[in-house]
Amino acid sequence: MRTIDWNDESDSIVMIDQTLLPLEYKIIECKTLSSLCEAIRSLRVRGAPALGVAGAYGIALAATLSSANDMDALTKDLQVAAKTIKATRPTAVNLAWGIDSTMDAISDAFSLGSIKDVVLSEARKIADQDVETNRRLGKHGAKLLESGDTVMTHCNAGRLACVDWGTALGVIRSAVETGKDIKVIACETRPLNQGGRITTWELMQDNIDVTLISDSMSGHVMSRGMVDKVIVGADRITGDAVFNKIGTYTHSVLAKEHEIPFFVAAPISTFDPENWEDTVEIEQRDANELRFLKDQQIAPADVKVYNPAFDATPMENVTAIITEKGVFYPPFLLDELLV
Ligand code: MRU
Repeated sequence: MRTIDWNDESDSIVMIDQTLLPLEYKIIECKTLSSLCEAIRSLRVRGAPALGVAGAYGIALAATLSSANDMDALTKDLQVAAKTIKATRPTAVNLAWGIDSTMDAISDAFSLGSIKDVVLSEARKIADQDVETNRRLGKHGAKLLESGDTVMTHCNAGRLACVDWGTALGVIRSAVETGKDIKVIACETRPLNQGGRITTWELMQDNIDVTLISDSMSGHVMSRGMVDKVIVGADRITGDAVFNKIGTYTHSVLAKEHEIPFFVAAPISTFDPENWEDTVEIEQRDANELRFLKDQQIAPADVKVYNPAFDATPMENVTAIITEKGVFYPPFLLDELLV
């Protein structure tokens, strides 16, 4: 099944609960906006492209639930829903993009009923496009990988971070599909272990060779010549930086030091030409994510904690950006790249 989808029978959003992986594969249903917001905040659905689709289906859900009986009142309900969903996670730009694209579609509607149809069909279009986009991106990126390569990745930029296929892992899947022998090193990605729990699980499902390391081992494996290339996804790409899961910046510095190509794979919807590194809000997460490992306390209960979810990698550390439009090399002039 897709990571996230719309259920016509129950008029609800269905998704794989990623917090339970790899121990349990469970599909959950969000029938209310508050359950969707909870699912986004707690990372049951996560990853920039999947969040874009969650936002889009969130607007469709709000339209279905609204009891407004004229177009203006429904539009107001959807505006409130848009604001509420956007506030759940501020850094991944796709969430706002998915919501805004769906809201923009309202202008095509001519009646109360057609608003509901229009937003749902726009959300479905965004979901379908995500799969096509990743396929195209994967094909472009696969050309950068050679048979025999070992590729290091961070967090999860795979099918579970998208509707299907994946961005960084989509590139790897596409290369494997063409017959290349690719091995993957997955960084654990503390504190929520998306690499250890999800990337490894996903790749093992596809029989792609994967080895798990802790985040602190990346310099060691690079210095030992165990990594040929690094590929990561992105939550937001500004003119000067790539925002991705905390720890990405460290890997980029180490890759530069060891002259290992550092690739970023992301759809055009992840680009944010309006912002710069210092104008993007980095999501700060709950202190208990570091004080506890699941229910097990692993640090003093009242220790001070700093827990940003993302970091910014400067463009000078990026070898190439892989998008559905092709592979781009420095200087990364966003205005030209987004034409
Ligand atoms: O906090 P998360 O798990 O949503 O963070 C996800 C990442 O940082 C991914 O690398 C990024 O969204 C790219 S996913 C294709």
